[in-house]
Amino acid sequence: MNSLNDIDYGTPRRESAETVTLEIDGVSVTVPKGTSVMRASTEAGINVPKLCATDTLEAFGSCRVCLVEIEGRKGYPASCTTPAENGMRVKTQTPKLADIRRGMLELYISDHPLDCLTCPTNGNCELQDVAGLVGLREVRYGYKGKNHLEMKKDESNPYFTYDPSKCIVCNRCVRACEETQGTFALTIDGRGFDSRVAAGQNEAFMESECVSCGACVQACPTATLTEKTVIRIGQAEHSAITTCAYCGVGCGFKAEMKGSEVVRMVPWKDGKANHGHSCVKGRFAWGYATHKDRMLKPMIRKKITDPWQEVSWEEAVGYAASEFRRIQQQHGRDSIGGITSSRCTNEETYLVQKLVRAAFGNNNVDTCARVCHSPTGYGLKQTLGESAGTQTFDSVMKADVIMVIGANPVAAHPVFASQMKRRLRQGAKLIVVDPRTTEMVRGAHYEADYHLKLRPGTNVAVISALAHVIVTEGLIDDAFVAQRCDAQSFSDWIAFVSRPENSPEAMAEITGVPADMLRGAARLYATGGNAAIYYGLGVTEHAQGSTMVMGIANLAMATGNIGREGVGVNPLRGQNNVQGSCDMGSFPHELPGYRHISDTVTRSEFEAHWGVTLNPEPGLRIPNMFDAALDGSFKGLYCQGEDIVQSDPNTQHVAEALSSMECIVVQDLFLNETAKYAHVFLPGSSFLEKDGTFTNAERRISRVRKVMPPKTGYSDWEVTQLLSNALGYPMSYVHPSEIMEEIASLTPTFHGVSFEKIERMGSIQWPCNEAAPEGTPIMHVDHFVRGKGKFVITKYVPSTEKVTQRFPLILTTGRILSQYNVGAQTRRTENVQWHSEDRLEIHPHDAEERGIRQDDWVGIESRSGQTVLRATITENVQPGVVYTTFHFPESGANVITTDNSDWATNCPEYKVTAVQAMPVAQPSEWQREYQRFNRQQLELAKLEAADN
Ligand code: SF4
Ligand code: SF4
Ligand code: SF4
Ligand code: FES
Repeated sequence: MNSLNDIDYGTPRRESAETVTLEIDGVSVTVPKGTSVMRASTEAGINVPKLCATDTLEAFGSCRVCLVEIEGRKGYPASCTTPAENGMRVKTQTPKLADIRRGMLELYISDHPLDCLTCPTNGNCELQDVAGLVGLREVRYGYKGKNHLEMKKDESNPYFTYDPSKCIVCNRCVRACEETQGTFALTIDGRGFDSRVAAGQNEAFMESECVSCGACVQACPTATLTEKTVIRIGQAEHSAITTCAYCGVGCGFKAEMKGSEVVRMVPWKDGKANHGHSCVKGRFAWGYATHKDRMLKPMIRKKITDPWQEVSWEEAVGYAASEFRRIQQQHGRDSIGGITSSRCTNEETYLVQKLVRAAFGNNNVDTCARVCHSPTGYGLKQTLGESAGTQTFDSVMKADVIMVIGANPVAAHPVFASQMKRRLRQGAKLIVVDPRTTEMVRGAHYEADYHLKLRPGTNVAVISALAHVIVTEGLIDDAFVAQRCDAQSFSDWIAFVSRPENSPEAMAEITGVPADMLRGAARLYATGGNAAIYYGLGVTEHAQGSTMVMGIANLAMATGNIGREGVGVNPLRGQNNVQGSCDMGSFPHELPGYRHISDTVTRSEFEAHWGVTLNPEPGLRIPNMFDAALDGSFKGLYCQGEDIVQSDPNTQHVAEALSSMECIVVQDLFLNETAKYAHVFLPGSSFLEKDGTFTNAERRISRVRKVMPPKTGYSDWEVTQLLSNALGYPMSYVHPSEIMEEIASLTPTFHGVSFEKIERMGSIQWPCNEAAPEGTPIMHVDHFVRGKGKFVITKYVPSTEKVTQRFPLILTTGRILSQYNVGAQTRRTENVQWHSEDRLEIHPHDAEERGIRQDDWVGIESRSGQTVLRATITENVQPGVVYTTFHFPESGANVITTDNSDWATNCPEYKVTAVQAMPVAQPSEWQREYQRFNRQQLELAKLEAADN
């Protein structure tokens, strides 16, 4: 169903250099060749009635209400399926057309419940609109004939209903599921009068393959598929464009509101990252923002065993500031620090790092990107010169070969995955490098040409072997390399990768990937046309994460697959603002724009603007903060929007470090796991309650708009400002746009960015400055940001985390579609119906050997700790490998992950942990202690245990 005030052009826009000019109802209109008569009419401001057509889907031509008359043509062609031609003369309104349309509508209405006044989509129903447009006044067939009015509703999906009695069998939902989402969950079951939409094998929606993306609901012109919130609340009365606060795709949404209540989130058709599509999280899982677990009052306590005391904002902020100053007096300037969040806005993140550097007077600031994409920042900066992905998402539509390494976009970046799958259905080739058989390997109408099912921890061996084939088989793009890359580093790299020990045959033993398969994949990547690499945390979260990122960049440069559409190196960022939090100077060694703190020129610019002297030495990274806390030199932490206890590796170590600190200030929506170790709790604001910007994985800066007042009285940036003022470092921004002005003035890649420009353009991809005033969709077009592209030697070094007789399996971790990161938001929505617990995936052989059956409780033990999860037996994991997600705190997935980390950035090696798995009958000791501590902390905050 179309949302407030959107024009529906009926058929998709066509791109063509050629145009055609035609006359419609006497109006001359010029459109790109291939445009339908219907779209041309709408562009000329002429409204042709339609039911089965909508501009997000290819025309289908089934409803016959869009018929027109075309001079010189027989009959009444459907305007949605007829391409506009030069010189055509079209009439959209004639008495005959009116008759035919009324006749069609009569047929539809005779089998439609006439309950318009009580229908949830009353006022926003295309059937109703078209009946009005064609002037339907009577239904000659009456309502007594055969009909579908008694058909039962399917209420199984928690977010939308399917009411078949209202279905006009226009097929829009079926096409949306196929074309837009790529799941193919819907069909039209039966024939003629008996036909109706069916999910799966005529099952309930929740039993079918449906992933609840909402595309069908969006496409449905009637109340057949309707959001339950619309049924409950009624139609919205105003709306605002904002950006999803979940993953790094950064989908644009229209928040449809009634007063300050969200009625529904409708994917924004003009959103350049999503083009009107969405996934279950952004579309439906926003209820956490008003969940009863939201903490709305500031609280303080002296010790973590004390009950929390609700206090005023002034008192809480004043207490935090006085504690921070006391600690600094006692333990030195460097004894406190801050952690910024990839879930907060750019402006909020910028303020936290400014507070740390200017008000704390040190560089002890780090971000949760440390534990996900810090190797991307390092690796791409070294090789290409800029710490960011090179493409737009749309660029994938020009790729001929898509290589996905260590990522499962179907689960973690679903809207981009839908676009990628569309390209695959058009015939692009696919290489997947992943230890698991994920949904990316095989799905509806696509299958990987090569699945390199490597052993966890052997990425670098695979990338070097791919490079070996490309070099030794003469598949290098010599012209590109000669013109664009650094000659010395290239010849060193050639010499290195050509060595026999890097051949696929030599590496097969290590990687487990058959040499012929690896050779085939390398040839395809190098010779298959435009080749694009997309990668995720399966690349970065390794001891050699940075090495692998550089190996990927090497491969792209060597084959000339960089600097134009359809190619590139594309890190898929996990959280909504991972890119932004890194851009904003959240790392201890970098000021905004990735400039080193030791650089005197850069530092002096910030010093002049901020009116302080900055420390030229990098501060502590998160793991260093924990170590310093344990050795007694780090005592205070300001943690905004991040749950380090759940998300960081080796939970016991983190908890021990936090327990030894004197003032932990947590700013969050919920009393999260970290807050249980805190002394000051500052309630946070959701993305619906603040203004600002997020930057997605394509470097796209989009607006986040306040659609409801902050439930706590303040947006998060205002709280940071209060804290800064209380610390004696004045901040006086009145709107986040002023913070962006400061960011832009101090950051060369952001010089041209402003709220006003984002407003005008919808979104902007940085760099946006004097050289690129409208932003930069594709990077490194004529030359690399660093000048010449630099090849880096990528020697494979086995992880120190080795399997042994005691720990014979490798555990690797990942995400699932319906949950998000630590789950704090999605666990507080109906998304738990899809995934209510973390499970251990284990291969049937490994399970059988251990006597583990489906759903059994399994104890998993590593060198770090133990936890207990239920088993899912599946061949998606290979023998010797087990897998789990980390969305539930009580699972304790990070109790077992270790302190191993990337050599360059300390990004934890989440993807490789040697473990043993055995059937057990009770929770692990850690879990029992967690339950006790959790209960105690909830009591101290006078909260009940969460009931979902
Ligand atoms: S919600 Fe999405 S996946 Fe489910 S049937 Fe509709 S379009 Fe298909
Ligand atoms: S459910 Fe809606 S979109 Fe699907 S066929 Fe019926 S009326 Fe059309
Ligand atoms: S794909 Fe990502 S950004 Fe888009 S709706 Fe889903 S979670 Fe939100
Ligand atoms: S809108 Fe053209 S046939 Fe239905």
